[in-house]
Amino acid sequence: MIIANWKMNGTSQSVTDWINSVSGNIDIDNLNPCIFCPPTCYLDHARKLINKNDHRIELGSQIVNYSFEGESLTGGISATMLADLGIKYVMVGHSEQRDILKESNSVITKKIEKALDDDLSVIYCIGEDIDIKNKKETQLFLSHQLDVLGKLSSIYEVKLGSIKVAYEPIWAIGSGLNAEKDYIEEIHEFIKKYINNHLGWSKLDIYPPVLYGGSVNLENSKEIISLTDVDGLLIGGASLNPETFCKIYNLS
Ligand code: PGA
Repeated sequence: MIIANWKMNGTSQSVTDWINSVSGNIDIDNLNPCIFCPPTCYLDHARKLINKNDHRIELGSQIVNYSFEGESLTGGISATMLADLGIKYVMVGHSEQRDILKESNSVITKKIEKALDDDLSVIYCIGEDIDIKNKKETQLFLSHQLDVLGKLSSIYEVKLGSIKVAYEPIWAIGSGLNAEKDYIEEIHEFIKKYINNHLGWSKLDIYPPVLYGGSVNLENSKEIISLTDVDGLLIGGASLNPETFCKIYNLS
């Protein structure tokens, strides 16, 4: 699974160019899902282009909002609206939203539940900052973030298979400094063990893929994707250029 996370970048023209270029250049024998997450305002435009050209690109939303029954929320985008647009994936818990938009774990839990209500696949993002890494508290910190998945209401047990995890160390995002390969392997192994054993998902026979994100580029992507327990990539800056993205995708 290779995801292009455009963040707050792009225009309708660059979305058009990206879809035209990527759909014509990705290796059709590569069965890895290719997921495009442009800004929400371009999702409908992207959906129409993809439908018209019958491409294999799937769409993901960078955001989803929720409100309690009957409450209005100016500016909100619900999971139902995303499903209505034919969106399959939604990112929840990205560190920029946790940090800048002050999203708490309880809000994140609710967002995941709302997304699952509408049968969206959730890309649940986790990752530690540099202080936590330096204090060697990464695993403890990530375990608290993973506990969000353990707090989902039991009615969602049948939908847990729709959840993917993206490990994105905050200090690696947009910094040009991807995590070292040994560190990625150690943390991905920890995440999988925690989900299997502590959250008990192995008893349900659910083994979510764990993706890596944080300064993935054309030079490092092949090595990172080939690491044990790395099941995909979440790519920010390097995904904006369609040629670079295609090369990364085709190497995966
Ligand atoms: P980056 O962003 O690839 O630019 O580091 C990754 C992300 O935030 O998803």
